[in-house]
Parts: sequence; C-alpha cells; structure tokens
Amino acid sequence: MITQLLTNTNKDLQFAANLIRQGELVAFPTETVYGLGADARNAEAVQKIFTAKGRPADNPLIVHLANLDMLESVAKEIPSIAWTLAEQFWPGSLTMIFPKRKEIPEITSGGLDTVGVRIPAHSAARELISLSGCPIAAPSANRSGLPSPTTAEHVLQDMSGRIAAVLDGGQCSGGVESTVICFDDAQTIHILRPGLISENDLSPFTKSVYIDKAVFQQISPETKVSSPGMKYKHYSPKAKILPVDAPDFEHFRNYVEQHKTNYTYCLLFDSDPEIHSIPCLRYGDNGVQQAHDLFFRFRELDELGAEIVYVRMPEKSGTSLSVYNRLMRAAGFEVISL
Ligand code: TXA
Ligand code: MG
Repeated sequence: MITQLLTNTNKDLQFAANLIRQGELVAFPTETVYGLGADARNAEAVQKIFTAKGRPADNPLIVHLANLDMLESVAKEIPSIAWTLAEQFWPGSLTMIFPKRKEIPEITSGGLDTVGVRIPAHSAARELISLSGCPIAAPSANRSGLPSPTTAEHVLQDMSGRIAAVLDGGQCSGGVESTVICFDDAQTIHILRPGLISENDLSPFTKSVYIDKAVFQQISPETKVSSPGMKYKHYSPKAKILPVDAPDFEHFRNYVEQHKTNYTYCLLFDSDPEIHSIPCLRYGDNGVQQAHDLFFRFRELDELGAEIVYVRMPEKSGTSLSVYNRLMRAAGFEVISL
C-alpha cells in the first residue's frame, strides 16, 4: 500500500473522508498529537488500527466527535458535571469516559463497556469527522511503544505503507496527548492520564479531583488498572532515556560529565547554560513548552544516533505533570536521584 500525503484543503479533506467511509485508515492532525483514524462503528476498520500500530487488543481507543450533538449516539448516562466540562473544555484536549452505546463495537473500547470521547480543537480534525459522517476512533498515530507523532513526517516514519493516507496539518500545538478522566461518582473526577488540562483547571468544577497512582509509578501488566494504556511501556525512543533529579544545574552537569560515553546526549531546559563536552538539545522552561517539544526531541535524538540521553526533570505538578508522566514512562520509571 502507498500512503498518500494529503494537505488541509477541501478537496483533500473530502478525499480523506471518503477513505474513512470506505473503512480505510487516515492519520490526521489534532491539537495534541496526530491520530490514526477509522470509522469508530466499523469493527473491521478499527481492527486495521490495532494491526497497523501493533497495539494490544485490550487497550481502548478514544472516539473523536465533530460536535456535542454526536455525544449521545456513542455514550450514555452522561453526568451533569460532564456537560459542564464539555462546555468549558470542548473542543479541546479533554477525554471523558462514559458507559458506551452499542453503536460502538467492543473492539473500539478494548472489550470494556465504556468509551473515551473527545471533540478535538484542530479544525481539520473536526472537518474530517463532519465530512465522514461518523465518529472517528483514533489512537496516537505512532507504532505501539514509540513516541507519539507531532508532525505528518513523524507519522510517515512509523506508518508509511501501512495506512491509506496522512493529512498534513502542520506541527501539533499541544505536543502531548489529551487529559483522560472518568467519573467515580457524580462529584469525583478521576484523572487517568495527565495532559495540558491539569488538576488545577478541573478543580473549580467539583469538590474532588484525584490523580490515578499509575501516573506516578510503574504498573505491572497483570494489575487491573482503570485505564489499560497506563500499564504499557510507552513513548520511548530507541535511545535510553535517563531522567536526572538534581538539586540544580551544577549537580546535573557534574554527574553527566562524569558518566558520559560516546553517544551520550543531554536534554536541557532552555535557560540552562551550555555543557561544552556533550551535545545538548533543549525542551523549554515550563510545562507548555516542554509538552510541545518532548516527543519532537525524542525523535530528533534517535535521528542523531543518541544512545543515552540524560534529561533535566520537569516539575511534577500543573501542566508539567503530563511531561513528567511521559518522560517517566519513556524511562520505565527509573530516575537518577542526586
Ligand atoms: O490526545 C489524544 O488523546 C490523542 C489524539 C489522537 O486524540 N489520542 C490518544 O490515544 O492519545 P491513545 O489511544 O494513544 O491513548 C488513549 C488512552 C489510553 O491510555 C487508553 O487506555 C485510554 O486513553 N482510554 C481510552 N478509552 C478508555 C476507556 N474506555 N477506559 C479507560 N481508559 C481509556
Ligand atoms: Mg498513544
């Protein structure tokens, strides 16, 4: 199969929507990362996603909608707090989990009786869904285990020859995947995966917001978790990622200078000084910048042939928690503490 590279024009969007209607796979831009889309109601089409990604069958897909009118065709028992959050955060990078309707086949929901739903903010994504006339199931468009793609080129690196088309909508503005939440009861928001919509953003809307422990620690594959995606190793480039928890830059530099080998790189904050003896890339100074750059830098480091990458630790709170979580999962939750 030859993967067609499409642009964000009306003609190409129509062409992409036709492919979706015919049960083919189309990767498309969202404001978080690129998604690998198929008609969420078509079990055969959704099976192709799992095959193209090499994704475990028990890991459910997020269903993407063009507008709120589509919500009750895929989900039911929607609590009133969810309507409030939808009004506040959609279109945007918040995925909410609800009991699913039978229009969504089990393969899409990874065998669960719930479905994760969001309305993406990227206009090309919503346009594609509208033109397709169906909800679109889409995981991140990377091969399973690799960093999520934030450009069409990164999608092609992983998916060329495996999918019908990629729609190029430029580099994703967000850079990490959406915040995934479920509702333990009418008052309690449970964060399963942190994203740029943080605990602080959600807390004004309810008495209780809590973050799943799988965000902070490795979960063994046998453990039953609320979100199956959290137990798999993820986001990892070929290079070994070593986060260094140092009290300051000087400690970090001393450590890496003592431990460097031939293909050692550093991933620093923008405001850090140079380390002249080691090649360095940078990934911003705050959560929003770091989220934007992290996966892009991971792929760049692989292209440069990095084997070991020492990384400055992001904060563990606010928007940075999403960066911390992706970094820790790329590192298998191993940290060098100085
Ligand atoms: O930003 C995003 O969310 C991107 C773009 C393309 O929208 N999509 C994305 O999908 O990151 P994926 O498949 O790579 O990650 C989906 C996550 C997984 O951790 C999965 O386990 C969880 O959401 N999830 C989906 N449906 C779920 C459900 N019904 N119950 C629990 N967790 C669910
Ligand atoms: Mg993913």
